[in-house]
Amino acid sequence: MLDIRIEKTQNPKPLPTEDNPLTFGTIFTDHMFIMNYETGKGWFDPRIVPYQPLQLEPSSMVFHYGQEMFEGLKAYKTEDNRTLLFRPNKNIERANNTNKRICIPQIPEEDFLQAIKAVVKMDEAWIPTKPGTSLYIRPFIIATDPFLGVRPSDTYMFIIILSPVGAYYKEGLNPVKIWIEDEYVRAVKGGLGEAKTGANYCASLASQVKAHDAGYSQVLWLDGVERKYIEEVGAMNIFFKINGTVVTPMLNGSILPGVTRDSVINLCKHWGIPVEERRISVDELYDAAKSGALEEVFGTGTAAVISPVGELRFENHMLKIGDGGIGELSQKLYDTVTGIQLGKLKDELGWVVEV
Ligand code: COI
Repeated sequence: MLDIRIEKTQNPKPLPTEDNPLTFGTIFTDHMFIMNYETGKGWFDPRIVPYQPLQLEPSSMVFHYGQEMFEGLKAYKTEDNRTLLFRPNKNIERANNTNKRICIPQIPEEDFLQAIKAVVKMDEAWIPTKPGTSLYIRPFIIATDPFLGVRPSDTYMFIIILSPVGAYYKEGLNPVKIWIEDEYVRAVKGGLGEAKTGANYCASLASQVKAHDAGYSQVLWLDGVERKYIEEVGAMNIFFKINGTVVTPMLNGSILPGVTRDSVINLCKHWGIPVEERRISVDELYDAAKSGALEEVFGTGTAAVISPVGELRFENHMLKIGDGGIGELSQKLYDTVTGIQLGKLKDELGWVVEV
């Protein structure tokens, strides 16, 4: 149990008003959680303080070798004014898996959850309630040793910031266009692909710029070895509905194990829809699109929730999916996931945690 010290802001910021629609990740609440680590001492000084710039040595290791992990989860306000988190333990478990992979010390699960709950509680008034909005929670850990050699740091900061958000994509729930990348790769088995660390997102930028310039929202990555099998999208996992079966790339060591991915697989199974986690090649996808077997494509992510895909581009081929609207299953998944998150639907799978 953490003994969290609290320093309240003396200058609360105005809450966002309903007239300006929320975008993603541009506004931050009044407070943040911080806790430090030193080898030999462990995690110490858990505190909630006013949201403010950090003071760090320019030599801090995170700036040079990128030893950092981050997570993303959301808090929602129910109609009866309760605050709910969606499957926070899955994020905490993944955070500690990332920590293990990049030599950051573990944070006990119960302390991690306590920290999230405490800072969310503190800034509860910032949780937006308009449809499609939520409070995005961004926990992260950075290496802070002032040192230019390459080794794991001996000191770290664990920080949680909060941001009231709207849709991740400007398209909202309208289908996005996705570029299948054939030049760069994101990750390979044995690399960092299944860890949630900045390096993976940095590796994606050049392709993302190229895709954006061509009018596409995101990049779909192929496997780094054969460049044949589908892996994931920049900020989402990916699903295909082919002849009534839901297919998603299996977790193979280079794909991020998404919490929404896991939730969608579980929901489909719960509804009796066949789900396959397996390798799927671009060729198979192309054939399925040509024969009319490819019924729906959608991405899943905490930020994006369920995001329908309306077009895939591979080399010079454009694959149009469906009729340009949101598919039936994508809509049902979106309604169910958000319904559970908002406490509107019965939480049959035991996913929500009250703050
Ligand atoms: C999330 O979906 O929460 C993520 O962390 C993706 C991020 C790049 C926005």
